Amino acid sequence: MEVIIQPNKEAAASLVARIVARELRAHPSLVLGLATGATMEQVYRHLVRLHAEEKLDFSLCRTFNLDEYVGLFPNDPNSYRHYMDRHLFRHVNIDGRNTHLPNGLAADLDAECLRYEAAIQRAGGIDLQLLGIGKAGHIGFNEPLSALRSRTRVKALTPTTIKQNAPGFGGEDKMPRRAITMGVGTIIEARRCLLLATGDSKADVIAQAVEGPITSMVTASALQLHPRCTVVVDEEAGSKLREKEYYRWIFENEPEWESYR
Ligand code: F6R
Repeated sequence: MEVIIQPNKEAAASLVARIVARELRAHPSLVLGLATGATMEQVYRHLVRLHAEEKLDFSLCRTFNLDEYVGLFPNDPNSYRHYMDRHLFRHVNIDGRNTHLPNGLAADLDAECLRYEAAIQRAGGIDLQLLGIGKAGHIGFNEPLSALRSRTRVKALTPTTIKQNAPGFGGEDKMPRRAITMGVGTIIEARRCLLLATGDSKADVIAQAVEGPITSMVTASALQLHPRCTVVVDEEAGSKLREKEYYRWIFENEPEWESYR
């Protein structure tokens, strides 16, 4: 795992977008794993700008989102399909047929989860997986005690997650209680993982995920097992990390990061 600390949330999101853009330019038919949530909105804003100003080409790119709520129609403003259309798909030259999210309305949800896993396999696996982190330490909706080898499945949301996401729904009672999510095992099979966390509300959970023990209580900690995982944080989200000076040194000195400085 590599941790990169950026001065603020704008710089952190910009760095993540530039990493995605470079991978996409190098591999135009990239299989890109996508995340939703407030943190990712900034990243998509940058990608839309790179498309408009620098012709970043999504025409061959294939995408798989991490998760979708159970029971929401795609045109529901709170569905993740709607989120992706609003923040990215509608603004770039991606082929809608190449964009994939789990279908939270499927009559047979277990069969839908198997179908989603098979679709990822058919695409050749995920090349680059974007991730946020929830206050419960989740990646995707892999809530505490999710098996670290879990696959795509239906997961009940924890009170912490319900509280985190309820404002968009206009209250906790209006929020779905379940979601389909890629499993931790599915996520860490991606060839590269890129996690973004910003703001002081993520400081504790980032310290646990990055420097704490690998535990299903904080499923993001499973990323410590991944051979190519980059965690990008702003100063606030990184404020409780013990090895901050080492992480700063890496960004300032390692050749891999030279063109991003
Ligand atoms: C959403 C997802 C979640 C979010 C996490 C952080 O697709 O996978 O794990 O990334 O809940 O959400 P925000 O950015 O809203 O704090």
